[in-house]
Amino acid sequence: MGENVSGIYSILNRPAIFGAFHRLVVRRDARRVLVDEYIRPNAGDRLLDIGCGPASMLPYLKDVNYTGLDLEENFIKQATVKYGGRATFIHARVQDLAAKFDCEFDLAITIGVVHHLDDGEAKELFRAVSKLLKPGGRLVVSDPVFRERQNPLARMVMSFDRGKSIRTKEGYARLAGPELEHVRTDVRSDFMRIPYDHCISVYQKPGPTASTP
Ligand SMILES: C[S@@+](CC[C@H](N)C(=O)[O-])C[C@H]1O[C@@H](n2cnc3c(N)ncnc32)[C@H](O)[C@@H]1O
Repeated sequence: MGENVSGIYSILNRPAIFGAFHRLVVRRDARRVLVDEYIRPNAGDRLLDIGCGPASMLPYLKDVNYTGLDLEENFIKQATVKYGGRATFIHARVQDLAAKFDCEFDLAITIGVVHHLDDGEAKELFRAVSKLLKPGGRLVVSDPVFRERQNPLARMVMSFDRGKSIRTKEGYARLAGPELEHVRTDVRSDFMRIPYDHCISVYQKPGPTASTP
């Protein structure tokens, strides 16, 4: 599996530490940009947040019918206490997706997760998402990315990441199978307070549009 979960890395599984770390390095408006420019939900959309962590995206996703899934029980417990009245949380792994859902969601998002998965697991994720989306439904993926002439500080911070499968833009593009149409990919360097680069991709399941493209 493309993840380091031992020693110092394991403390990031604690919701309070994860939250403090993110508040320190992630720009305040980064999640708003992800929602307004890429996710673009419609009111009432059924949205699945894969690897939701403590559900940090949820406050930015008003009016959707939100389901969050994560393998870390701590995150699912905290998210359920905080948001259980307006959302559903499931303790499960990406590898369980195909068995759990079928053509139910207008939107799927997976933010900061694919770089925790090796190529086999990531391809399985894309296949499972193509099954759980309604025709016309969309997937939004965001992860750190390696690029040429990258700021050395960004490279260094990425080398400390728990996810051991950070890829290039082309490396991420190779993971999606023919079941999902590629809509758009951007590399952005404006989400963190430190030099850092993210690859954000949007895919769509062929069929009538279920939500704003
Ligand atoms: C960097 S965190 C991102 C959390 C959240 N998406 C966010 O935007 O803050 C990565 C998350 O992916 C989850 N994760 C990693 N591998 C997973 C897997 N195989 N199945 C389910 N969740 C996984 C981790 O537990 C963690 O919560």
